Amino acid sequence: MKLIEAKDYHEMSKLAAEIILKQVKEKEDSVLGLATGGTVLGTYQELIHDFKKNKTSYDHIQTFNLDEYAGLKKEDPNSYHTYMKINLFDNIYIPVEQTHLPNGEASDLEEQCSAFERIIEASGGIDLQLLGIGQNGHIGFNEPGSSFDSKTHVVTLAESTRKANSCYFASNEEVPARAVTMGISTIMKSKKILLLASGTQKASIIYDLFHSEVTNAIPATIIRKHADTTIIADQDALSKLNQAKRYA
Ligand code: PGA
Repeated sequence: MKLIEAKDYHEMSKLAAEIILKQVKEKEDSVLGLATGGTVLGTYQELIHDFKKNKTSYDHIQTFNLDEYAGLKKEDPNSYHTYMKINLFDNIYIPVEQTHLPNGEASDLEEQCSAFERIIEASGGIDLQLLGIGQNGHIGFNEPGSSFDSKTHVVTLAESTRKANSCYFASNEEVPARAVTMGISTIMKSKKILLLASGTQKASIIYDLFHSEVTNAIPATIIRKHADTTIIADQDALSKLNQAKRYA
């Protein structure tokens, strides 16, 4: 795993955007795996900034998002469809039919999961997958205990995840109980992985990411087995890891 230490959130976002832009420029029909949440928001702002300045083309790019809440309409302000539309897609002029998210409002969610896998395969596979990390080590919505062999599937969200995400909803109870997520094996099939972490609330899990055995109790540890993983973390997220190094 390659670790890049960023000074702060802003620098992390800039460095992450540079890696994504390099991918997009080197292969104009790249397939990008995208994430949602607070961590990646700054990266998307950097991509939008670049688009305004340099008119980088996304005409032939395809995107696949990691996850979507089950039971929320696409137009719901808290759906990841809405998040991606507002925070990225509408601002870089990527053709909407080339952007893919699991459909959390499908009547047959299981069939929807298989269809999502089929479209990823038909696209030629994900070139670069962007990931955040949950405080409990989840990637996508693959919560602790998820099988490393999993493909896109329906999950019940951990209470800690619902609590962490409740800031976006009017109340804790409104956070959906279930979601559709790319599986861990789907994520691991990506040619490159780029994981971002920022803030002291991620310090403990970033320490575990490097020091724990590879275990599905901490799903993110699996990325240690991937041949091309880059982690960009800011000083706050690295505080426990760096402290341990100092006292080693
Ligand atoms: P966050 O979420 O970026 O909002 O911290 C990351 C995640 O839960 O994967």
